[in-house]
Amino acid sequence: MANEFDVVVIGAGPGGYIAAIRAAQLGMKVACVDAWSNAKGGPAPGGTCTNVGCIPSKALLQSSEHFEHANHHFAEHGISTGPVKMDVAQMVARKDSVVKQNNDGILYLFKKNKVAFFHGAASFNRAVDGGYEISVNGAQAETLLAKQVVIATGSSARALPGVEFDEETVLSNDGALRLGAVPKKLAVIGSGVIGLEMGSVWRRLGADVTILEGLPTFLGAADQAVAKEAKKAFDKQGLKIELGAKVGEIKKTKKGKVTQVTLSYTNAKGDALELVADKLIVAIGRVPNTAGLKADAVGLQLDERGAIVVNDECKTNLPGVWAVGDVVRGPMLAHKAEEEGVAVAERIAGQHGHVDFDLIPWVIYTSPEIAWVGKTEEQLKAEGRAYKAGSFPFLANGRARALGDTTGLVKMIADAKTDEVLGVHIVGPMASELIAEACVAMAFKAASEDIARICHAHPSLSESTKEAALAVDKRTLNF
Ligand code: NAI
Repeated sequence: MANEFDVVVIGAGPGGYIAAIRAAQLGMKVACVDAWSNAKGGPAPGGTCTNVGCIPSKALLQSSEHFEHANHHFAEHGISTGPVKMDVAQMVARKDSVVKQNNDGILYLFKKNKVAFFHGAASFNRAVDGGYEISVNGAQAETLLAKQVVIATGSSARALPGVEFDEETVLSNDGALRLGAVPKKLAVIGSGVIGLEMGSVWRRLGADVTILEGLPTFLGAADQAVAKEAKKAFDKQGLKIELGAKVGEIKKTKKGKVTQVTLSYTNAKGDALELVADKLIVAIGRVPNTAGLKADAVGLQLDERGAIVVNDECKTNLPGVWAVGDVVRGPMLAHKAEEEGVAVAERIAGQHGHVDFDLIPWVIYTSPEIAWVGKTEEQLKAEGRAYKAGSFPFLANGRARALGDTTGLVKMIADAKTDEVLGVHIVGPMASELIAEACVAMAFKAASEDIARICHAHPSLSESTKEAALAVDKRTLNF
């Protein structure tokens, strides 16, 4: 039968499309189903990451960084420009074209790897002998027969109770990437990854940004030395972050054509305050997308958050049904989803897929960038594990001085006895790229001395990682 497959992958985000390609590479007959449409109604594979997440946000961060440089940093290089103007529509159009290149890239990869792509929403029909019947609801209705199913349906922005996303005034990550003009006053709820990245984009373009964060600690999951350094940099840039804020009523008010939003909140001291903004971004986490799957039709087990219950190998309670990425437990990160997708495809093929959940890097693409892998000092203290730590500031790195970007540091933590690297925490220029060395070193169970003895190119930012390794042994050469 034409529509009979060894593997049907539901969702073409980073978890799903990578799982489909890997399964095809391993010789299986594979289909991937995805419902995302572009503005013209055509397929837009790539999921949240490609369409309204990682990729478009990085495009806007780059544009806004250029604007900030032209306005504030060109002069120190001897470059004068005259007044610098921002064409937001052009910036957003460029972002859209970057997204399209990625959508098209995935469709090309499906062709290259002979993955059959179906544009539509997939749901379970019923279990059949040796597999599952999957309905695809798209321009054409299709029924697929799958021996194995991989669910990679991702997540959606979590709304505040009673405050729906209208994507005009109250924005999720989606609307925050599509604003037609720079808002004068922007309020953000949640100083997590999305709040900080989106707050940074619009602050650089001239918005007056206030972020209200419920927790008293800034970036509680990050090493606090790094979080403090980042907070200092954000304060200096004028990004206002109110920690320990309790948000109360949120009201939209319309005056003529202008809609504004008024937020009542109490700050950490208990003062009752009000914030009036032109736009509000709500970035308080995400919820797994399982509503449309018809999980009941086959008895697929979900937890109380609606996430699919899986074991360490991404197996669900149903034979031959797997789930990866944001729709299951663990951090909602594209690269974690990709690793799970590859591992599941390999397990289906009878191989030993492997994901090291302890070595998944985190990156926040603000300026300065924040990146880390492994344990924080706070975690090690709580575990009662003996460690030694060292750090090196970019201020003492020649390349960072030449770049004109000396904010931040690299901090390395190693086991007190064995010297094995347990965590690397970076805030500063290109942290997103620098963290890769730490991931490789830790995957090979390197000691800090190993890194300290490796020749690093000069002048490069990566010398700061080597110096941080030397700092673990209290013998930095350049600081
Ligand atoms: P998040 O979990 O990173 O941060 C949410 C923040 O909102 C937390 O600090 C939380 O304390 C706060 N919060 C929750 N409820 C609140 C309330 N009622 N009032 C005030 N503060 C409140 O979630 P975010 O930023 O929405 O991102 C969602 C997911 O997307 C994350 O899991 C993240 O990993 C992923 N993502 C990753 C990116 C990257 O890797 N660079 C970029 C963007 C998103």
